[in-house]
Amino acid sequence: MPFHKLAAVPVLVWLGVALATRLPRAGATPTPHSSQCKTKCGRVDIPYPFGIVDSPDDGHCAMHDGFALTCNKTGINGRRRRPFAGDVEVVHISLQRGKARMKATISSYCYNLTSRVMDTDPWSVDLKGTPYKFAGTNKFTVIGCQSLVYIVGEHGDDAQDQYMSGCVAMCWRGGNGDVRSALRNGSCSGIGCCQTAIPKGLQYYQVLFEPGVNTTEIHNVSRCSYAVLMDSSDFTFSTTYVTSRAFINNYGGQAPFVVDWSIGNETCDAARKKHVSYACVSDNSECFNSQNGPGYICNCSKGFHGNPYLQHLERGCKDIDECKHPQRYRCSNGGVCRNRLGGYDCPCKSRWKGVAKAGTCIDHFPLAAKLAVGAIGGILLMSIISFLIILHKEKKKMKEFYKNNGGPLLEEATGIKIFKKGELKPFLKNSNIIGKGGFGKVYKGLLDNKEVAIKKPINGSVRENKQFANEVIIQSQVIHKNIVRLIGCCLEVEAPLLVYEFISQGSLHDILHNHNNKVALNLEARLNIAAQSADGLAYMHSKANIRILHGDVKPANILLDDNFVPKISDFGISRLLARDKEHTGSVIGDMNYMDPVYQREGLLTEKSDVYSFGVVILELISSRRAIHSENNSLLKSFLEYDKKKEKMTELFDKEIAITKDLELLDSLACMALKCLSLDVEQRPTMMEIAEQLLILSRSRKV
Ligand SMILES: *[C@@H]1O[C@H](CO)[C@@H](O)[C@H](O)[C@H]1NC(C)=O
Ligand SMILES: *[C@@H]1O[C@H](CO)[C@@H](O)[C@H](O)[C@H]1NC(C)=O
Ligand SMILES: *[C@@H]1O[C@H](CO)[C@@H](O)[C@H](O)[C@H]1NC(C)=O
Ligand SMILES: *[C@@H]1O[C@H](CO)[C@@H](O)[C@H](O)[C@H]1NC(C)=O
Ligand SMILES: *[C@@H]1O[C@H](CO)[C@@H](O)[C@H](O)[C@H]1NC(C)=O
Ligand SMILES: *[C@@H]1O[C@H](CO)[C@@H](O)[C@H](O)[C@H]1NC(C)=O
Ligand SMILES: *[C@@H]1O[C@H](CO)[C@@H](O)[C@H](O)[C@H]1NC(C)=O
Repeated sequence: MPFHKLAAVPVLVWLGVALATRLPRAGATPTPHSSQCKTKCGRVDIPYPFGIVDSPDDGHCAMHDGFALTCNKTGINGRRRRPFAGDVEVVHISLQRGKARMKATISSYCYNLTSRVMDTDPWSVDLKGTPYKFAGTNKFTVIGCQSLVYIVGEHGDDAQDQYMSGCVAMCWRGGNGDVRSALRNGSCSGIGCCQTAIPKGLQYYQVLFEPGVNTTEIHNVSRCSYAVLMDSSDFTFSTTYVTSRAFINNYGGQAPFVVDWSIGNETCDAARKKHVSYACVSDNSECFNSQNGPGYICNCSKGFHGNPYLQHLERGCKDIDECKHPQRYRCSNGGVCRNRLGGYDCPCKSRWKGVAKAGTCIDHFPLAAKLAVGAIGGILLMSIISFLIILHKEKKKMKEFYKNNGGPLLEEATGIKIFKKGELKPFLKNSNIIGKGGFGKVYKGLLDNKEVAIKKPINGSVRENKQFANEVIIQSQVIHKNIVRLIGCCLEVEAPLLVYEFISQGSLHDILHNHNNKVALNLEARLNIAAQSADGLAYMHSKANIRILHGDVKPANILLDDNFVPKISDFGISRLLARDKEHTGSVIGDMNYMDPVYQREGLLTEKSDVYSFGVVILELISSRRAIHSENNSLLKSFLEYDKKKEKMTELFDKEIAITKDLELLDSLACMALKCLSLDVEQRPTMMEIAEQLLILSRSRKV
């Protein structure tokens, strides 16, 4: 069916048809709000500047008449209360956005089967003279299959400022004649449904159905057309809206629409100048010009919430404690939330870096590092503690050693220096070793700018500590030019360290038998060595109060200084140490020089030293090593020659066996053999030997 031309639109007859909805006009003077005012009607919050004015006494509850609402009982039983602005129901009020949600009756245009005419039920909404204006989110919505509906609007009170538009909804009729075939759910684009936007600032509208476009012919499929200005976000087209009363039923006859409300008809700047009527009275509130026509709204400043229209401390704009709303005000786990007036701070935790509000706080010091640091710290601490414990133990041990080695006894002795372990320790390294033997090692050291020899026995406890101390004391008192002087000792170690004067040329043994050593000893030197060594030994043997035996006289124990002056080393103390070490009973010493009597009887006497000294003389005149063996020993050779009463010339060292000295050498050999006598009584004393040697050496010089 072709539809009517729309050229001539008889719209201006609407005033008579419309059932106008009238709202109360706004009064001008703001009134104070009191705590007796209701802030809720039914489920709807009513914040100031709105107010429930059910009686004239409530007048002060709303800012002015325009914001006055009534809280009426509705429904069949009148159970539920709902707020009304005039006769328009208010569903929700948003203070912050300056909006409110209301309900408008849906207009309809239906074919009456009984009367066979079009029944029209058009509505209008009049907000003129109130603070409300239709918001831009509303759309004039028309539903129908044969519908042309006009919207006629007005801005404010000025009736001349009219607006008119319309919307057409048709249904395409397919070959089968079914109008429904073209309809699509959710699609409101002219087929069964159409929507049109409205201009800003509208305060009044009314609906007009074009009578020439009616549903008479399609009434058995789509009997009605509907139209309403409603919130587009609340509308989704359904095909059933065209073919049934579903649209009306769905919304209960009233569709929601949104209004922008504002205070007054001035801008913020203008309003602020009029202190009396300026509505943004709360501290920390701000003013915004309305986006929809004249007037302004108030809002709390950023970081504050509350009612900007109230001066009341509690209900006005208050600081938001953002930290209590972590869902809305972000502060990630890495941050520390701190509220402040008008905002909040969220710095990253100490040692964390990033922006906590953006959730990028990252532990700059990750767990692994923490563990590492912890572990290292722990290890360090443990090390320090164990070090201290070791140090303590070491000190204790040192004290114990000191005591065991006769320290307290030695302390009282004069002439002996007691060294600290630390003083000697630096010298006890392999590069300083100048001698090795069964007793231990000898290191060279430097104490008080004097060269010293430090003797370090092989560890093994010195049980006779008292005796050791005594020996040390005795030795320290021995001052003889032919005896190596004991300077001091260190008792803080298990086996005491002994510090001797350093003798530069080494031992007689090395000089006689080490062929790399190019020091040649002439007879005079040898005589001198023999004589002075004998002197030293004699001195020790003859000391008035205590007699000191050497027990191990041999060239290795006769040291020579720069002038080849002999100094005997290794008296008693080393023997004490050595005895403990070797556990060989009382008989110890070098077998090559050992007195067979001492060996047999185990009793060391002066004569044992004499025997050993005899061997030394033989070594001196022959430059041959004294080797203890059944055949071919140095001793045996001399004894055999002596037995046969033969000249011993060929036994003498060629270096010294010059003719004029042969006699002297013979008497030396003779003296040596006397010392070697197996009859102890036959042996001369050390004193005698010393005297004889002195005579011999003098006789040669002359
Ligand atoms: C609300 O109630 C008042 C009086 O109780 C009445 O005058 C008014 O018309 C009612 N309004 C609505 C929308 O029902
Ligand atoms: C008022 O403040 C709230 C919260 O800060 C904000 O959501 C709203 O958009 C503001 N209103 C206006 C009109 O700026
Ligand atoms: C149709 O019109 C008659 C008479 O005017 C009326 O009584 C009836 O209620 C109407 N029917 C509908 C559904 O509006
Ligand atoms: C419906 O519109 C047609 C014109 O298209 C008109 O002739 C008819 O009278 C109208 N019906 C009613 C009930 O208004
Ligand atoms: C549209 O949706 C309604 C239910 O919401 C359904 O009854 C109807 O058949 C649907 N129409 C189409 C064309 O799918
Ligand atoms: C609608 O009514 C017309 C006559 O007015 C009829 O020809 C058609 O079959 C009907 N369609 C339906 C779906 O009832
Ligand atoms: C603004 O409103 C006041 C009273 O509410 C009125 O006197 C004044 O004329 C209005 N001004 C404008 C420009 O509408």
